[in-house]
Amino acid sequence: MKVDAIDHPLAKNQTPRIVLQITLTLIVLATIPLCYPLLGYPLFLLKNSCNNSSDHSPSSHDSREGLIGELQREKRCDIFSGEWVPNPEAPYYTNTTCWAIHENQNCRKYGRPDTEFMKWRWKPDGCDLPIFNPAQFLEIVRGKSLAFVGDSVARNQMQSLICLLSRVEYPVDVSYTPDERFKRWKYTTYNFTLAIYWTPHLVKAKEADSNGPTHTGLFNLYLDEFDEEWTTQIEDFDYIIISADNVTDLPMSYGYRKAFRTAFKAINSLENFKGITFLRTFAPSHFENGLWNEGGNCVRTKPIRSNETALEGIDFELYMTQLEEFKIAEKLGNKRGLKFRLLDTTQATLLRPDGHPSRYGHLPNENVTLYNDCVHWCLPGPIDTWSDFLLEMLKMEVIRSYNDEKLHSKDKKNDD
Ligand SMILES: *[C@@H]1O[C@H](CO)[C@@H](O)[C@H](O)[C@H]1NC(C)=O
Ligand SMILES: *[C@@H]1O[C@H](CO)[C@@H](O)[C@H](O)[C@H]1NC(C)=O
Ligand SMILES: *[C@@H]1O[C@H](CO)[C@@H](O)[C@H](O)[C@H]1NC(C)=O
Ligand SMILES: *[C@@H]1O[C@H](CO)[C@@H](O)[C@H](O)[C@H]1NC(C)=O
Ligand SMILES: *[C@@H]1O[C@H](CO)[C@@H](O)[C@H](O)[C@H]1NC(C)=O
Ligand SMILES: *[C@@H]1O[C@H](CO)[C@@H](O)[C@H](O)[C@H]1NC(C)=O
Ligand SMILES: *[C@@H]1O[C@H](CO)[C@@H](O)[C@H](O)[C@H]1NC(C)=O
Repeated sequence: MKVDAIDHPLAKNQTPRIVLQITLTLIVLATIPLCYPLLGYPLFLLKNSCNNSSDHSPSSHDSREGLIGELQREKRCDIFSGEWVPNPEAPYYTNTTCWAIHENQNCRKYGRPDTEFMKWRWKPDGCDLPIFNPAQFLEIVRGKSLAFVGDSVARNQMQSLICLLSRVEYPVDVSYTPDERFKRWKYTTYNFTLAIYWTPHLVKAKEADSNGPTHTGLFNLYLDEFDEEWTTQIEDFDYIIISADNVTDLPMSYGYRKAFRTAFKAINSLENFKGITFLRTFAPSHFENGLWNEGGNCVRTKPIRSNETALEGIDFELYMTQLEEFKIAEKLGNKRGLKFRLLDTTQATLLRPDGHPSRYGHLPNENVTLYNDCVHWCLPGPIDTWSDFLLEMLKMEVIRSYNDEKLHSKDKKNDD
């Protein structure tokens, strides 16, 4: 079965509403002064030419026309189905400009000879996905906070985001613990907080024999119990990006389902939480010629086309499980005004078997791992595109909350 045959909550059910909202935006924008700051979002996010602060005059007709024009030209589509196309301008950082690259993902340092894997961008079928704009991102998240909740792939994504933002600003470390698994960063110019909560299984887990002589690394999982390491910490965050890719310990899709149900339940039960929850969907690994513990490897150097593969077997099952649990959580959350969004990177990720460290996550003579890494992503690399998706979704949130606020104030006026 193919991914795009799935009944996609974002792609299908919500498209008409998005179109409607954009139409409303255009009407609304035509009637308000340019650059009107609403909910802390300056409108110039939507248009670069609105960055002259002395130019706030509602009579600046040309600029307003320009703004509406740009929004009209910005075609929307399902950004998550498409193909990878060459991008000679990439990458946008290197291992010398960004210190946030984790050693095990510093593929160039450890001798990966090819460079083409860094030179692609995602092209949705029906529109364009802009390349990540770090200044725009930081403007949107000004005064806000974002937390990654997940395993080492979530950390991989956060490090990619830090590197992409490094062209504008490096964050300062404001972690509340020396534990490397729980980092907190601050972008001081933008008062933006970025954090990661490491939770490999989303639920409570205890190492089976952490004090015993045989350090097996096996975990006892409590699928119904919150992992308080993160559930007690996230209440004040504006955005949460939750994910789970490491399924080695979970009794396949049953455990995966339970883990997500419990994690979403934790979020929906937070009394003061008002943020948006993004589910970053399952990132398939790419072991070929064997499983991870059977000498499997990922040696390709090019993306594959969408007609050459399909999400199958356990990957497909896990992906569908996520979507089902997401929909259940969204329904429950909506009742109390909580927003859930799908950051559906699975299809784009599936097509990038060339982006993993393989054996280049460490020096060849080091015995640090016994298997090839076809799970994490080289930096720079395809995972940078997840930030392109994220920024596009945050822009949609700007438009949505703008419209909500506008309609709200209109309702109020009508009531008077
Ligand atoms: C807005 O800023 C960008 C980059 O700083 C600049 O290229 C552009 O000309 C500016 N536009 C206006 C109208 O000032
Ligand atoms: C901003 O606009 C004003 C008048 O429209 C102009 O005099 C000024 O040079 C502009 N400043 C910048 C930085 O573009
Ligand atoms: C960066 O990558 C180059 C190879 O492109 C390598 O020689 C160098 O050691 C790496 N530097 C760091 C700081 O990782
Ligand atoms: C920074 O943002 C936080 C919310 O994340 C807010 O409470 C605080 O007042 C902001 N500080 C400044 C100096 O704007
Ligand atoms: C997955 O989890 C297991 C146990 O928690 C751990 O040993 C392993 O390194 C993890 N794998 C990845 C790719 O994170
Ligand atoms: C996939 O599509 C491309 C371009 O449309 C075409 O050249 C190629 O032959 C197709 N491959 C398969 C396996 O159908
Ligand atoms: C790696 O392991 C092999 C075989 O176990 C051993 O001969 C070699 O000395 C080890 N290398 C390092 C750098 O530890």
